[in-house]
Amino acid sequence: MPGLRLFPPIATNSRMANKDTILSIGGGPEGKDPLFVKKNQVVTYSTYVMHRRKDLFGDDADLFRPERWETIKPGWDYLPFNGGPRICPGQLFALMEAGYTTVRLVKAFREVRCCDGRPWMEQLTLSLTLNNGCMVSLVPDSKLPN
Ligand code: HEM
Repeated sequence: MPGLRLFPPIATNSRMANKDTILSIGGGPEGKDPLFVKKNQVVTYSTYVMHRRKDLFGDDADLFRPERWETIKPGWDYLPFNGGPRICPGQLFALMEAGYTTVRLVKAFREVRCCDGRPWMEQLTLSLTLNNGCMVSLVPDSKLPN
């Protein structure tokens, strides 16, 4: 969950209004008034930016601090899988797969070494990826049978 907050693979998204509609906030100078969206207008949003908002996640929003989820509950401010009727149907499968793979890696390797001296750089295409790939080496746990 913390990784998906800071680096949501679908970092931007948009919706087109199929009828005249009013969003409850987003308008006015402070963005706190209702906002009129005309039929066929497109509203684009960035989960990457929203997930780093200090007013939503606190002053340390830019920090990877998984413990924050002990006291906050994900809502419409956390949307790596989107929400509503078109929410990602693969969400639970993806989370289960990521958890399973992480546990298997931790059990099989005692260390993950970074092999890339270059600074971290992201690349935004349709999805958010790593610009330079993921250059790591894995040190096997010698106690495990081959
Ligand atoms: C970390 C992994 C994943 C992320 C972050 C993710 C994210 C998303 C997001 C944001 C959407 C909504 C797109 C939109 O409506 O604009 C979406 C839709 C979708 N996802 Fe995923 N997804 C992930 C994994 C998966 C997996 C594992 C599957 C299938 C096994 C899957 C199947 C789908 C499908 C079929 C849709 C389209 C749903 C529709 O339009 O009604 N996703 N996903």
